[in-house]
Amino acid sequence: MSGKPWGGRFGSATDRRVEEFTESISFDRRLYAHDVRGSIAHAEMLAAVGLISSDECGQIIVALKDIEAEIDSGAFEFSIDKEDVHMHIESALIERLGDVGRKLHTGRSRNDQVATDLKLWTRDAIDAVVAKVMALQRAFVGLAERHRDLVLPGYTHMQRAQPVLAAHYALAYVEKLERDRSRLADCRRRLNVSPLGAAALAGTTLPIDRDLTAKALGFDGVASNSLDISSDRDFVLETVFALTLIAEHLGGWAEEWVLWSTQEFGILALPDAVCTGSSIMPQKKNPDVCELIRGKTARVIGSLTGLLVLVKGLPLAYNRDLQEDKSPLFDAVDTVSACLDLAVVVVSGAS
Ligand code: ARG
Repeated sequence: MSGKPWGGRFGSATDRRVEEFTESISFDRRLYAHDVRGSIAHAEMLAAVGLISSDECGQIIVALKDIEAEIDSGAFEFSIDKEDVHMHIESALIERLGDVGRKLHTGRSRNDQVATDLKLWTRDAIDAVVAKVMALQRAFVGLAERHRDLVLPGYTHMQRAQPVLAAHYALAYVEKLERDRSRLADCRRRLNVSPLGAAALAGTTLPIDRDLTAKALGFDGVASNSLDISSDRDFVLETVFALTLIAEHLGGWAEEWVLWSTQEFGILALPDAVCTGSSIMPQKKNPDVCELIRGKTARVIGSLTGLLVLVKGLPLAYNRDLQEDKSPLFDAVDTVSACLDLAVVVVSGAS
């Protein structure tokens, strides 16, 4: 009656308000490419162990790629009666292939998919953020090179303390960013074990090959305990903590440059392209980008705090609360990525 894949025991349809309240498709659609990647690896494994035929596997892969292309193009239709990205892709597959499409879910649960997709997404996000951190490190090295002989006041307690070279100052941020980079690499290493095969919470009796899917998805190994891994979100928290520290580093730097670019300090000029002005006070050049980099630190701290509270007191194993992990993760990644990009523009253009 409910029309849901799990609807067998239900006598009536889900209340529309419940669908609206419980959907995650509005935000987890961002995982679609990773969901397809995980499903292709799973299908290939099912064929390798003989749970589906290689012809069925071929059909599933072609259809999955077709669905991915449809989502890429914007033509794919999302609707909240199919709760999440996993159900959307599965039902599109069944629409195309009928019973062959249904076979993809053999030996697998949505909890597997959530954990696997989120790990794959987070791993890519870490790689992208690391590249941005390195770009900012290069910008600070460039600043050091451009102002090799410039002497700046070094401060403690915001009181003039001792003279320092501009290069000494710029390279201090290279070091902070280097620790940020290594923290992200560390998260990535710990994250990189495959949850696939944990199924709902206790694995499956079907003869699946977990090493095969792990290898196909670039994981370094398989998780040892299904109860743990199907509910583990440590990697989300660790990643967002590493991002929070980047935001803190950027916030401190941005505050410094807000001060240094004032008429009172006059140590540096921010590039015009990152400032705004005022029509009635033409002497002003407002450091909006630096102020917002400083301000956006709050959002990232908010994401971290939200996640810490979200997982507090959660019993084993999967609980629906965990659906709420995605928005803060996505927001922290987006916010820190944008701050890093803009910081490169500011640092490269400062004089
Ligand atoms: N949309 C859910 C999420 O993102 C899927 C959970 C599936 N598992 C379940 N037991 N309902 O977490």
